[in-house]
Amino acid sequence: MDPIFRAPRGVGGAYAPPADKSITHRALMLAAVAEGRSRVRRPLATGDCVSTRRCLEALGARCADEGDSVVVDGVGLRGFREPSRTLDAENSGTTTRLLSGLLAGQQLFAVLSGDDSLIRRPMGRVVEPLRDMGARIEGRAAGRFAPLCFLPGNGDLQPLDWEIPVPSAQVKSCLMLAALRGSGPSTIRGRTASRDHTERMLQALGARVETEDSALRVHPADRLPGFDARVPGDISSAAFFVATSLISGRPLVLRDCGINPTRLGFIHAARRMGASVDVREAGASLGEPHGVLTVTPGALRGTEVGPEEVPELIDEIPLLAVLGLFARGVTRVSGAAELRVKESDRLEMIARMVEGLGGKIEVGEDGFHVEGPQQLATTGLVDPRGDHRIAMAAAVASAGISGGVRVTGFDCSRVSYPDFVRDFTALGGEVA
Ligand code: S3P
Repeated sequence: MDPIFRAPRGVGGAYAPPADKSITHRALMLAAVAEGRSRVRRPLATGDCVSTRRCLEALGARCADEGDSVVVDGVGLRGFREPSRTLDAENSGTTTRLLSGLLAGQQLFAVLSGDDSLIRRPMGRVVEPLRDMGARIEGRAAGRFAPLCFLPGNGDLQPLDWEIPVPSAQVKSCLMLAALRGSGPSTIRGRTASRDHTERMLQALGARVETEDSALRVHPADRLPGFDARVPGDISSAAFFVATSLISGRPLVLRDCGINPTRLGFIHAARRMGASVDVREAGASLGEPHGVLTVTPGALRGTEVGPEEVPELIDEIPLLAVLGLFARGVTRVSGAAELRVKESDRLEMIARMVEGLGGKIEVGEDGFHVEGPQQLATTGLVDPRGDHRIAMAAAVASAGISGGVRVTGFDCSRVSYPDFVRDFTALGGEVA
């Protein structure tokens, strides 16, 4: 599918974004290791989260669709059954890293792998600390890359005291999940400031997770109870339409959207770029707040995003590059070297995307610098090379390019946002 996106009347309005990917992964995994039955309402039922669900089913957790819920029969923290085939995480880093934390030290043999992008992503960052806990894990290139192979453990894992060098919620969550089966409390230090869904959800389930400054202390748990939770909308998916709203000057209302403070970095940046955004909480489920966001666009101006802010908007950085093309002045991002090990080398892909839009950007080792507003191509042409967030960021640019933007291989957007084309159209855009 190589659609051309156009937005002659701009893209804005009111809508409910698709379910949160990070929260769906965690809800399914926690339900699988809980005891008894759990209900996950309105999960993201596509791409990456389907990969998680299939892996959990292969490990013995029965998952059944009931209306817009998935009902999961949990097997307990130590109850996975040995899978008969390779567990396929496909394109999903979150599946691979979080599941590694659940698989470490279990009484089973399992192989975990994925697609061409996944097997190039760094896994040593989870394998090393899990080995330190006594887990027996082998893997390609001495465990630095998938396929990863989990060998049967003998009893509980040892407590961990580990400093994480990269601000990765996937690494942090993997270690927290493993720490539940530790023989004593574990401490995770260092770069722990990243999305805190795992902390919140575990606490909501009664697990003892304490935060002291930047360190996390996770106590072992005998069991987690079954639960009933509803997944809010994904603010990272909604961000695409926050960006079209800002570029095309059309207000946007996001209903039923996750508003976890550790995910609001892009909203803060949008405000600095001239938008006014009102965030109103409406409730919470399993520790995760949701609410309504009202975006009122203003004259766009550039902004700076430094290393401290990067974890709170890591997935929205391609959008900052697109906004920078239309904003007056300089937009600069630094401290984002993690982007080089995402589904693609995302900094490299941002450079290619901007080139395909007819713009100019200076990409460095850990960020970029873009000056606007720029004279862009009359029609853009972008090949995202299988990276979903680049594909959708390129489509967003059509809000400011009169002849629109053609995105080749747009189907890759399915891993996080299966109905992007439908929503783009419903909010006033055209897709041919
Ligand atoms: C995620 C964490 C982030 C993010 C990814 C989802 C998660 O990755 O980019 O889309 O659900 O924990 P890192 O934690 O590796 O930065």
